[in-house]
Amino acid sequence: MNPILSHFENGVLTLTLNRVEKKNSLTSAMYAELAQALDSAQTDTQTKVVLIQGHETVFSAGNDIADFLQQPAAGEDSPVFRFLRGLALFPKPLIASVCGPAVGIGTTLLLHCDLVYAGDNAAFSMPFVNLGLCPEAGSSLLAVQLMGHQRAAEALLLGEPFLAETALEMGLVSRVLPPTEVNAYAQQQARKMAAKPMSSLLETKRLMKASFTPQVLERIKQEGVVFARMLKEPAAIEAFSAFMEKRKPVFN
Ligand code: COA
Repeated sequence: MNPILSHFENGVLTLTLNRVEKKNSLTSAMYAELAQALDSAQTDTQTKVVLIQGHETVFSAGNDIADFLQQPAAGEDSPVFRFLRGLALFPKPLIASVCGPAVGIGTTLLLHCDLVYAGDNAAFSMPFVNLGLCPEAGSSLLAVQLMGHQRAAEALLLGEPFLAETALEMGLVSRVLPPTEVNAYAQQQARKMAAKPMSSLLETKRLMKASFTPQVLERIKQEGVVFARMLKEPAAIEAFSAFMEKRKPVFN
């Protein structure tokens, strides 16, 4: 079964994370597929809006840790960086529909979306500090901009999860719905948007993002350098070994 399902209808490209048995954790191959889908959607004139969704029980558990250990992201041409750059530079509206856990990149990718709809079972977390790592996807900049320093610190320095209502209040999420209704609602909103004039959508999004995009790209790069270094350090090695061995990590 393909771990990324792709469906095009009424101007909306829907990308569904479809690896529920591994909690939609993202492998290098999945990042490559997502990056390619965003690239094609950018140039395809029929595609007006992209919607990224998961399952009603889980959005994504973040990086696939086993895959990550086998093939750590190396450099700016790696699939994960191509995906992150694709997200940050995506010129058309990007919508996400999120239910259940959204861990690591499952949350940080949302910071690049124009609209995010969440199920009332959504649980967001950016637990990089618990893994001996640092933030990625520009989240050290975007989370602070969105939440303010103190709340971003709870999420990034304590690695504390937060629920849908808090995400709504912070402005990470535009609306909270029952999990069985979120994907359909997000689809409806995406189609509503896709019916609007493409030139207006493109110019409006470009103007909304113009002053931030260069900073975000620079931050993604800076975070990537630190993240790659930290991956090889003892704290991350212990955190990942503990995950694979299904035990709690012990940090010195
Ligand atoms: N990478 C690789 N495999 C993962 C994974 C990940 N990030 N997250 C979950 N899985 C796998 C589990 O190992 C398990 O596999 P198994 O059935 O072969 O043992 C399966 O997915 C189900 O996960 P499980 O932990 O049993 O589900 P849960 O409902 O109890 O918990 C989560 C769901 C998302 C809260 C939990 O899986 C989790 O915390 N995952 C790790 C998140 C993380 O640290 N991500 C890295 C961010 S950089």
